[in-house]
Amino acid sequence: MDPLERIQSRRRALPEVDLTHGRSIAYSRYTTSRIMELMDANGHGNVHGGVILRMVDESAALVAMKHGGRPVVTARIERFDFLAPAYIGNVVSVHSAMNYVGRTSMEVGVEVTAEDVLTGEVRKIASSYVTYVALDDNNRPTPVPPLAPANEEEAARIERARHRRMHMAKIDEELAKVQRDTEITGL
Ligand SMILES: CC(C)(COP(=O)(O)OP(=O)(O)OC[C@H]1O[C@@H](n2cnc3c(N)ncnc32)[C@H](O)[C@@H]1OP(=O)(O)O)[C@@H](O)C(=O)NCCC(=O)NCCS
Repeated sequence: MDPLERIQSRRRALPEVDLTHGRSIAYSRYTTSRIMELMDANGHGNVHGGVILRMVDESAALVAMKHGGRPVVTARIERFDFLAPAYIGNVVSVHSAMNYVGRTSMEVGVEVTAEDVLTGEVRKIASSYVTYVALDDNNRPTPVPPLAPANEEEAARIERARHRRMHMAKIDEELAKVQRDTEITGL
């Protein structure tokens, strides 16, 4: 069996996902880490933004796959803020946890830290929100289990995400209106 066939057969063998039972945030939370090497950085020793972005996409996707029990695709990377640099030799860790679950989409909140293992200094270097969509065997969006808070802390996190998403939806609407208006006036 060639590698592609092996991947496809693995996918067909996936068990049915029980959509009646919610999953907690803790159920799918992940942290992945990697030491930054020469190839990850520019000539000044600063790690490239694209290296961090790739780590975030890969790490946050694990959360979405674990929660949904299905393969996922990245639909949106939102508010990717680079807060401080990371350097060669730092251990970069991506801390990812589910924020919000729709019908087929899932928003994962991400915080990235850089650690100097010799001094023990840990700095927060980036944050983002990444939305994934779960796919069925025909690569179409498919429903995922609801997000069921396991405690007050998890409930508060989901509520914060719900508020932020409402605000973002309003901003999207306003931007769409500005776009329409400027198209009409030819600006
Ligand atoms: C993401 C994708 C599967 C959505 O397909 P679609 O036909 O638009 O699906 P739908 O309109 O039914 O939307 C499905 C869900 O995705 C959400 N969604 C779609 N586009 C989105 C976007 N840009 N940002 C956030 N959410 C999005 C919808 O809100 C919906 O959520 P819900 O089911 O929780 O309510 C499709 O646009 C796609 O394949 N994009 C390319 C993905 C990709 O190649 N990523 C990079 C490599 S992994």
